[in-house]
Amino acid sequence: MKHKKILITGGAGFIGSNLALTLQKKYPDNDYFVINNFSSANSNNLTEFKGKIISADISKLNLSQYFDKIDVIFHYAAITDTTLTDLNKMMSNNTEGFKKVLRFAIKSKAKLIYASSASVYGPSKNPMKVGENEIPTNIYAASKLVIDNIARKYFDTLPIIGLRCFNVYGPKEGYKGKNASIIWQLYSQMKEGKRPRVFKYGEQKRDHVYIKDVVKANLLAIECPKSGIFNVGFGKAVSFNEIIKILNEMLGTNLEPEYIDNPFKNYQEYTEADLTETNKILKYVPTYDIKKGIKDYLRNLTP
Ligand SMILES: NC(=O)c1ccc[n+]([C@@H]2O[C@H](COP(=O)([O-])OP(=O)(O)OC[C@H]3O[C@@H](n4cnc5c(N)ncnc54)[C@H](O)[C@@H]3O)[C@@H](O)[C@H]2O)c1
Repeated sequence: MKHKKILITGGAGFIGSNLALTLQKKYPDNDYFVINNFSSANSNNLTEFKGKIISADISKLNLSQYFDKIDVIFHYAAITDTTLTDLNKMMSNNTEGFKKVLRFAIKSKAKLIYASSASVYGPSKNPMKVGENEIPTNIYAASKLVIDNIARKYFDTLPIIGLRCFNVYGPKEGYKGKNASIIWQLYSQMKEGKRPRVFKYGEQKRDHVYIKDVVKANLLAIECPKSGIFNVGFGKAVSFNEIIKILNEMLGTNLEPEYIDNPFKNYQEYTEADLTETNKILKYVPTYDIKKGIKDYLRNLTP
């Protein structure tokens, strides 16, 4: 990669920090900038980051005041609490934040790579395909679909890649607490010797994708010549019960799940990414199946 100026919004969060640190390691000659409002970030996530960190709210910011030119923008800043019910807060932060970044990307002739989310599919049929059955059932998911639909209008104006991430898990997510992945939730309970709690009866299946595969998709997106929205999952759904079984094996425990009532309506019971287009256009092939991903995670645990 030729010398570039790279901006990562939300770069102190889970995915953003993993991405920022990998980019910096792989391409040390670039200039890196992170913008985060630290509404939900872990300051430890960026202790090894050598670029510039700007503490600011992307939805209220004029990026031109900070930068003359950026070559690649990774937009990962968002409210990621799927249980938030304040529509105004969600939309003004996520959607307005995206519009600000998009406006600057156009002005700066930057490549824009942003985080979409599998939540936009709601409880629809599987495997999930971009452009089909996009029926969000909470306001977080709605904010993400609004962003995708705005992005689609600008696909011919500048190179835009939306990465529609499924359930991402891995180091640096623990700080998210109840918003961290189910794998982190179950691990946290089991390592304390507690029975893992899951909604009745643990047969909910999700496409859990390891952070290293997600970072790989982002790196591939830099080179991708076409605008588009692409699913980023592993391509295979795995149930919560199976995860408990794997964790029991890896932790050397024998803890039975405790099944509790699910208070959420329209819960995504089954998500699985169709990766045909992601594979064809981004050349993305995930390599961390659930066992390999959890094994790597346990080796690289961070608080
Ligand atoms: N983790 C997942 O499983 C997953 C799945 C699909 C999509 N995504 C998307 O990926 C992105 C990153 O998710 P994450 O899991 O790393 O979450 P995260 O909450 O750890 O990171 C988001 C970061 O953005 C920051 N932020 C929020 N609003 C901001 C604003 N207005 N200005 C500046 N910074 C702001 C937060 O402080 C936080 O550090 C989000 O857009 C999320 O919707 C995540």
